[in-house]
Amino acid sequence: MTFDQWTRQVLDRVESALDHYLPAADVQPAPLHDAMRYAVLGGGKRVRPLLCHAAGELTNAAPEALDAAACALEMIHVYSLVHDDMPCMDDDDMRRGKPTVHVKYDEPTALLVGDALQSQAFVTLTSDVFDAQHQASLVRELALASGSIGMAGGQAIDLASVGHALTREQLETMHRLKTGALLRAAVRMGALAGETPSADTLAALDKYAAAVGLAFQVVDDILDVTADSATLGKTAGKDAKDGKPTYVSIIGLDASRALAQQLRADAHAALEPFGARAQRLAELADLVVNRVS
Ligand code: IPE
Ligand code: IPE
Ligand code: MG
Ligand code: MG
Ligand code: MG
Repeated sequence: MTFDQWTRQVLDRVESALDHYLPAADVQPAPLHDAMRYAVLGGGKRVRPLLCHAAGELTNAAPEALDAAACALEMIHVYSLVHDDMPCMDDDDMRRGKPTVHVKYDEPTALLVGDALQSQAFVTLTSDVFDAQHQASLVRELALASGSIGMAGGQAIDLASVGHALTREQLETMHRLKTGALLRAAVRMGALAGETPSADTLAALDKYAAAVGLAFQVVDDILDVTADSATLGKTAGKDAKDGKPTYVSIIGLDASRALAQQLRADAHAALEPFGARAQRLAELADLVVNRVS
């Protein structure tokens, strides 16, 4: 199977699973469920679900288990995007090529869509595709990655840093939390959804995920400067306008591009112990760094 065929197959599976694990649009309160489905379905690159499925190949995880873990990750990610776009945070009116949730609906709905998607993510991890031990370990991974020492903590640093000149170390810490933590969880949860991974396997995957997670936000910062809004599906040029510290503002465009390539090489190096079994993870590192949107 080519990488494109593999990707399409996973994306199809994940789209149906998201449809399944989200409450139907006619379940009450229907307006909230409609808005949750608007936010989640039919858009986004689904990088976290792809990483989860690719890592699951290393521990022979069942595809249905990976679908559920992937959906939980995507629900948390979308919740973070819906809140990130609200006027009290980045105040963006376009996401995934569509009006943001607070623009299409209203601000209270956007707040509740985020809240409800967060809860739904954990409901999804208690699905009976997992035994009790897997449920507990996956819930813990996702909760740690999305909370105050993960994504939400990174978002707090991001907001507190507007207009400030961060050091490179502070910037890296912010990126590792706000974006890296959930991408790391995607890789770890894929592996944890199958046979118990060895400590060496998890350590190698952590190295891979640290590189890919940081690379992802470095590239996001680059694309904010170099790509247009139509390609990105979100407002380009917003970081500089809002005074956000980014890799581009702190080390410049060329050094940011070089760093992304270095991180791609680091990700590949971390996968060496796995040989051909990590082919999809290696291809995803390339996708993350070389993407144009
Ligand atoms: C955007 O994430 C926000 C960041 C964490 C940088 P993605 O670039 O993964 O957004 P979608 O899911 O493809 O829309
Ligand atoms: C958002 O970072 C990270 C999270 C949503 C956790 P950004 O604010 O840079 O994401 P975009 O550029 O709006 O997608
Ligand atoms: Mg933001
Ligand atoms: Mg934003
Ligand atoms: Mg950005």
